[in-house]
Amino acid sequence: MPEDHKQHREDHFYKKAKKQGYRARSAFKLKDIQRKFNVFKRAFYILDLGSVPGSWLEVSKEFAEENLEKYNDQHYHRTHYKIMGVDIKKVSPLENIKTVRMDLTRLELQNEIDSYFQDELDLILSDASIKKTGIKFSDSVNQVKLCFKILQIVKKNLKPKGATVIKCFQGVDFNKFYRSMKKGFQSVQSYKPKSSKKGSNEIYVIGINKK
Ligand SMILES: C[S@@+](CC[C@H](N)C(=O)[O-])C[C@H]1O[C@@H](n2cnc3c(N)ncnc32)[C@H](O)[C@@H]1O
Repeated sequence: MPEDHKQHREDHFYKKAKKQGYRARSAFKLKDIQRKFNVFKRAFYILDLGSVPGSWLEVSKEFAEENLEKYNDQHYHRTHYKIMGVDIKKVSPLENIKTVRMDLTRLELQNEIDSYFQDELDLILSDASIKKTGIKFSDSVNQVKLCFKILQIVKKNLKPKGATVIKCFQGVDFNKFYRSMKKGFQSVQSYKPKSSKKGSNEIYVIGINKK
């Protein structure tokens, strides 16, 4: 795609985010993923890893609030929602959302999860990404390492039949990570949302129905 078209698309999503009141254009990536995979179906307990500035938390809250009404039936539902966002950087406060400033790879994160949710989670999201150096090979290796750490958190805390969305980078070890996801979920897909920057190698791995 020519550089000026690319810039135009990126400006478009930036302006759209501002207009709709989201903290970042990433909101549209998650909404796109939701349209395609319905990851928020009956999701009330949600963990978001790598949350700053917070647009995935905003989108999660919208769907969780909607779910309280939408799924108020005889099947699995809850009368309240709980959302927790984790980041190394400080997340600016959001009403009814717990935010934790912590490196997600730290073991102490498990205490935070246990004490806040006191139950298994319906959905775990991760848009966390390593600090890129620009060297695609090592960046993708390091991102996949982070994804494996996130998968451990998912395995321990996500309920059976729960869903997850994890940002990864395409590269040498991507297939290894994808295969590990397949062992843990009945359905696994990779997807590049429309609003994802075209030149980037980011790709989201979506796991539905945890085994
Ligand atoms: C692309 S941003 C997330 C944007 C967010 N989803 C939103 O919609 O506003 C990636 C975030 O991951 C965080 N991050 C990267 N590695 C992390 C780690 N090990 N622990 C916690 N947060 C991490 C970064 O600080 C950064 O804020």
